[in-house]
Amino acid sequence: MARILITSAIPYINGIKHLGNLVGSQLPADLYARYARARGNEVMFICATDEHGTPAELAAAKAGKPVADYCAEMWAVQKELSDGFRLSFDKFGRSSSPQNHRLTQYFAGKLAENGLIEEVSEKQVYSVADGRFLPDRYIEGTCPNCGYDRARGDQCENCTKQLDPTDLIDPRSAVSGSTDLEVRETKHLYLRQSTLKDQLDAWIDGQEGWPILTTSIAKKWLHDGDGLQDRGITRDLDWGVPVRKGDEPWPGMEDKVFYVWFDAPIEYIAATKEWADAEGLDDSAWRRWWRLDEGADDVRYVQFMGKDNVPFHTLSFPATIIGSGEPWKLVDYIKSFNYLNYDGGQFSTSQGRGVFMDQALAILPADYWRWWLLSHTPETSDAEFTWENFQASVNKDLADVLGNFVSRVTKFCRSRFGEAVPGGGAGGAREAALTADLQARLTAYEGHMDAIEVRKSAAELRAMWAAGNEYLQEAAPWAVFKEDPDQAAAIIRLSLNLIRLYAVLSAPFIPDASATMLTALKAEDAEWPDDVGAALDALPAGHGFSVPENLFRKISDEEREEWQARFAGVRS
Ligand code: MF3
Ligand code: ZN
Repeated sequence: MARILITSAIPYINGIKHLGNLVGSQLPADLYARYARARGNEVMFICATDEHGTPAELAAAKAGKPVADYCAEMWAVQKELSDGFRLSFDKFGRSSSPQNHRLTQYFAGKLAENGLIEEVSEKQVYSVADGRFLPDRYIEGTCPNCGYDRARGDQCENCTKQLDPTDLIDPRSAVSGSTDLEVRETKHLYLRQSTLKDQLDAWIDGQEGWPILTTSIAKKWLHDGDGLQDRGITRDLDWGVPVRKGDEPWPGMEDKVFYVWFDAPIEYIAATKEWADAEGLDDSAWRRWWRLDEGADDVRYVQFMGKDNVPFHTLSFPATIIGSGEPWKLVDYIKSFNYLNYDGGQFSTSQGRGVFMDQALAILPADYWRWWLLSHTPETSDAEFTWENFQASVNKDLADVLGNFVSRVTKFCRSRFGEAVPGGGAGGAREAALTADLQARLTAYEGHMDAIEVRKSAAELRAMWAAGNEYLQEAAPWAVFKEDPDQAAAIIRLSLNLIRLYAVLSAPFIPDASATMLTALKAEDAEWPDDVGAALDALPAGHGFSVPENLFRKISDEEREEWQARFAGVRS
């Protein structure tokens, strides 16, 4: 038994996430967490909402709500959806929690003590009417390139030209529309990451077996161009973690907050404290996951994220950890993902394009989506969601292969032998061959799951389902029954046991269907199997069961077309 710490990149608070977001970190992280628990490991699985920054402020303003209220409401919405998808977080925290405020300030204090923070004076646009500095994207005006009159200070949306706020003609505040703007001096804190470059480089070189997607992105940022740059870790916003040096005020920084990307990864740690606090446990309960000097030296820490998050997790967050000079746990393995596209284009939150988590659950149960998304995870390249492909996978893998097996076996047994595992007869060569085949596939499945090869794991699981189907087809108990009921009983006894085995092995992918199978079989033992032969003997003759409801229904062509049309446009 090992101890495994698992974090998923924490989703932004502004809005409901789409299926591309889900498959890009939270869902595969859940697959791995469920598997790791099933194998008997002690697991801590953490996620949270990422609540600070300009996008959260803008979204709250758009909703006409104070930002704290908006975040509290959206956290509850996201929490309900993550429960709906059966994401088995030990804690779904909030980056705006008091725990994260204190820990973020603590880290900043340590970095300052170690000489890794520099104060830099900058010129920035100040809005007199709003009484605040404006981030680039809060300034609007006319594009000098194309004349578009709603260009933003960072970029013109119309002609895509990158802009500086001072390039804009007739600049105004996007907050109030005021044109009373002036350029003022303001001080910001910079994390001197460049001085940690060699340490980061050595740390990354010391990692074995990291995915190429992960290391190539990290190396690019370390070495391309001017190499690793120092980065500003403060912003002139109201909403965020106030800048402090640990428990002390930070002179000159009174009106500033930390940059969202500084506090967000620290929330992985803070959310573990949120968990301990909510459980009424003392600090050692979370520190044993995070402090090498308090028990975390035997923890394996695995992170899940989309590829756009990799620089922050390979460089910025490790810079915070290493720079603290304290024995905090660094990540051991980073699993990163490519993008999932939607029907010939991209999923887009800002444009409302694609299927969003709430919409998905409104049309089909979680397992349908979990299976499709996980079996098509964008690992080695980008992947694409199409309704045709979704319909085909659900109908074939879930309904025809797994669902049909369960239904045929349980119904046939009920009609010929009654609702208990039948006795009599014995397995022969066919059963021995099936057992050997499944044993080999189980080993392969475990290998892929241990390596977090999501698609390969799904393929192996599907192959195990198919092997049972083929066995049943060839053994044909319905034909055998007429001549030799005992032999038919042996076939069905094995098949009922196979359902239990499938339930156990499939649970990380399709937890609800797995629970339905176990309940129908009144199976008390859902332990991960070592030996397939023994597992196929677990339910003895006479053990009662009931025929479950249809596990999976098929998606009709009419439904597919209707959904395709409904989700073709943009969400309003
Ligand atoms: N909210 C970010 C995103 O969705 C991820 C933050 S991950 C963390 O891209 F490490 F910063 F927490
Ligand atoms: Zn333009």
